[in-house]
Amino acid sequence: MALGNRGRGRWEQIQDSLRNNEQGHVLQFFEQLGEEERLELLQQVEKVDYVALRREVLRLWRPSGAGFIFKPASCTQLASTPAEKEHWRRAEELGRTAIASGHVAVITVAGGQATRLGFDHSKGMFPITPVKGKSLFQLFAEKIHAWERRCGRDIFWLILSSPTNHRETCDFFSKNGNFGLRQVHIFPQGVLPSLDRDGRLILEKKNAVAMHPDGHGGLLEALGRSGLLPMLRENGVEHLSYFQVDNPLAMPIDPAFIGFHIQQQSQFSSRCVVKKYAAEKVGVFVESDGRLRVVEYMDLSAECSCAQDASGRLRFGWANVAIHLFSLDFLEPFCHDCGWQVLPFHLSQKKIPYLNGAGHLVRPVEANGFKLERFIFDLLPRAERALLLEGRREEMFSPVKNAAGLDSVETSQRDQVRQFAEWLSKGRVDLSRDDSGLPPFFLEISPLFADTMEEFLQKWAEMPIKPAVGANFYLE
Ligand code: UD1
Repeated sequence: MALGNRGRGRWEQIQDSLRNNEQGHVLQFFEQLGEEERLELLQQVEKVDYVALRREVLRLWRPSGAGFIFKPASCTQLASTPAEKEHWRRAEELGRTAIASGHVAVITVAGGQATRLGFDHSKGMFPITPVKGKSLFQLFAEKIHAWERRCGRDIFWLILSSPTNHRETCDFFSKNGNFGLRQVHIFPQGVLPSLDRDGRLILEKKNAVAMHPDGHGGLLEALGRSGLLPMLRENGVEHLSYFQVDNPLAMPIDPAFIGFHIQQQSQFSSRCVVKKYAAEKVGVFVESDGRLRVVEYMDLSAECSCAQDASGRLRFGWANVAIHLFSLDFLEPFCHDCGWQVLPFHLSQKKIPYLNGAGHLVRPVEANGFKLERFIFDLLPRAERALLLEGRREEMFSPVKNAAGLDSVETSQRDQVRQFAEWLSKGRVDLSRDDSGLPPFFLEISPLFADTMEEFLQKWAEMPIKPAVGANFYLE
């Protein structure tokens, strides 16, 4: 593509602007580039508000502290009294009615880079179930499909991809016939430039600056751009059920949660679990100025992380499992207008490969710059009506973050097996289990058979001849 005279003026303006705003280094190899490559570089840079971003990064960069005063969050806890149990039962009933009426759509964020997992594909393609090795995407598709069968209607599933994995994600779904679902909608999030410590763009090729996905907060603008909102409205969707693709125990549709959310006319609701130990790497819910918020673990001082109340529980002990519900009325305006005041940037220090003066790519051993991201949970304090609902960790949270160790494939598969073993034991299957509840072999129950213990027990009891349970037992 060649630029005409009008284009040339614009081209020169961009170069001038780069030079006048501490970004002249972006042009250091310009003379060596052919016309096409020059255009690629300028077109990429043109989309970046590097002046404002630099100002923002220099303003925000501070090594620690969340920068506001907060106290422990209040939370609707698990039911223990008969009255509470009845309250939960009624909420669940209300939730089921809303789901059956088509008021709930599902949204999954799957745009992350899976770097810690060392998986070079879209994270949702990662094989995770213990016996069949089904991918995360297939597992969630089955959970959603089970609800479709229960309700006799299609359920909309929206999936946030990133420019890097969008094509691959779409291909994966189409190769697998969308796993039998008719309403899968995949749309990409945006990108932001990586910046060095002086807030300057980083050249990763002679004709490209380093960019990365803009964080799951990018969901809002991406949803606005996607054109999916009117479709949801036309189909009567009122609430969006949100979860992260990295958590195989997540329930894409959780009737009791939905019921509480509706009952309390909440705009933004979240599930949480009790933090396992003070240093667990999870965000926690807090309250500030009468509003709920999430504080990331790196922003919580050691003192706050360890603080205990009179009964010995962690004061800031409600862990963010990244399962939320948004009312569409609340969310939609932010999808069309979501300034940095609404979702601020979070900076994380990264090792960002860059071109040296000789034009060779250097992979730094120390962090040399920042990745900027925006987080969806920063929308929480905007909600006048918000709800925090406790859940049981073993029923909803076992993320796959790392290749080994904590929150890894191994821990997550074991947690899945533990859950199935618990169901089978409650169904009077004689299963030897260790102190942690783990049987000596892997087993798996498809969500297409059951995705809660109650459902499993009912269907299991109805089976006239029960299959033998042994190594690699699988039930669908
Ligand atoms: C996240 C939460 C943390 C919570 C924990 C629970 C953040 C900042 N923190 O931590 O409070 O306790 O999960 O597991 O979210 N993603 C995108 N696009 C992006 C970046 C991420 O779609 O640009 C998706 C990822 O695919 C993943 C999810 O968001 O599904 C979480 O991202 P990640 O960066 O792994 O968050 P954590 O640090 O694990």
